[in-house]
Amino acid sequence: MSNTATLIIDGKEITLPITTGSEGERALDIARLRDETGLVTLDSGYKNTGATISAITFLDGEQGVLRYRGYPIEQLAERSTFVETSYLLIYGKLPSPAELKTFSHNLTYHSMIHEDMRHFFDGFPSAGHPMAMLASMVGSLSAYYPDSLDPNHDHDMHIARLLSKVRTIAAFGYKRRIGQPIVYPKNSLSYCANFLRMMFSVPAEPYEIDPEVVKALNILLILHADHEQNCSTSTVRLVGSSNASLYASISAGICALWGPLHGGANQAVMGMLREIQASGGNYKQFMADVKDKKNNTRLMGFGHRVYKNYDPRAKILKQMADSLLPRLGVDDPLLDIARNLEEIALRDPYFVERKLYPNVDFYSGLIYKAIKIPEDMFTVMFALGRMPGWIAQWREMMLDPKKVIGRPRQIYTGETARDYVSIEKRG
Ligand code: ACO
Repeated sequence: MSNTATLIIDGKEITLPITTGSEGERALDIARLRDETGLVTLDSGYKNTGATISAITFLDGEQGVLRYRGYPIEQLAERSTFVETSYLLIYGKLPSPAELKTFSHNLTYHSMIHEDMRHFFDGFPSAGHPMAMLASMVGSLSAYYPDSLDPNHDHDMHIARLLSKVRTIAAFGYKRRIGQPIVYPKNSLSYCANFLRMMFSVPAEPYEIDPEVVKALNILLILHADHEQNCSTSTVRLVGSSNASLYASISAGICALWGPLHGGANQAVMGMLREIQASGGNYKQFMADVKDKKNNTRLMGFGHRVYKNYDPRAKILKQMADSLLPRLGVDDPLLDIARNLEEIALRDPYFVERKLYPNVDFYSGLIYKAIKIPEDMFTVMFALGRMPGWIAQWREMMLDPKKVIGRPRQIYTGETARDYVSIEKRG
């Protein structure tokens, strides 16, 4: 296979290099295109643009394959923990026992937030969305750790701080939302058990940690931990490329994740399932609405920019919903609705032709609901899971000697030059 491509533009021939990745993916390197021809590329939504080279996550959307640092997502979900997977993503290898011990120790001992920050929660309206609190609080960490503003600082301590504190922030936000006293982290607990206790413990009744729920949460977070250059990760990289701090970059990523076309879809799926339930199970009408473009209705939790096959994360989550809900004694009619909807959609030519399959958000909400996570916290849970991926991508970029500020081009289609008209003369 050739490692160059020849383009002919206005009769002039230029040769551009082709870069090949370790899984055989090939990219036309157009870095010299503008200098040599005056042209830029135009690719709305970056559908066909590789914004970086990266050694973190590989995904093959045609085959439904997802690997972190080479390890299949199925093996990590079954055998790893969220903390170990976080180390793997950020530092590129599975930790030795000693490395894991130090990493876990750092996460344990950086879990508190400054007491002054605790008061921030009182300033939010109690009905405010927890994602608004999460994004603001993570951005605010920059103010408490000003050495993070120096791009050449030692990253590792801030990485541990962020991974640990974000869990405390998420739980405090929830407690604020429901008007309960906050619960401080407890050092003897694992990452996920600690989070569950901070969420659900109340002074009158200590929270009994169910190992089954801890395991489920580990799997959920592992499945969300990275997904290469999606909307929020690209945002983290773009903001970080200006040498903004880790906390500022991740706060921007949290905002990007929030939208219903991205991480907000898990919350939207539940609304959709309830709507179908309220219609008495009128799938026919719902599917007709989805296919009618005038309605602007989408089957939430279906479709993906990259997967044109079953999302491997959705496959694991579907099996998990099937087995975990009965084990927890949860009989949720919405799970049956989701199963029916999936079956109908996968047989429908509209979905078949467009290769639309369930994505990670289709079943995750039903599992979060079964482990008592409230709906408006679903996207916060996604953000907790995605944290190591964002951090790994930020770190990879910051350590890249060839790092440059991200700055796309455009094709201008507005007015050409014209003279200013004073207000008296305007019609
Ligand atoms: N329901 C109905 N139609 C859909 C859906 C859907 N969920 N997804 C895509 N389509 C249709 C589009 O209308 C379009 O049809 P057309 O060719 O007739 O115009 C075609 O499939 C291609 O869709 P695009 O929007 O061009 O695909 P894109 O890659 O831009 O969008 C996205 C991907 C945003 C995920 C889309 O599939 C979607 O909106 N899904 C629902 C929201 C969702 O579940 N988001 C979570 C994604 S996973 C994640 O971010 C963690």
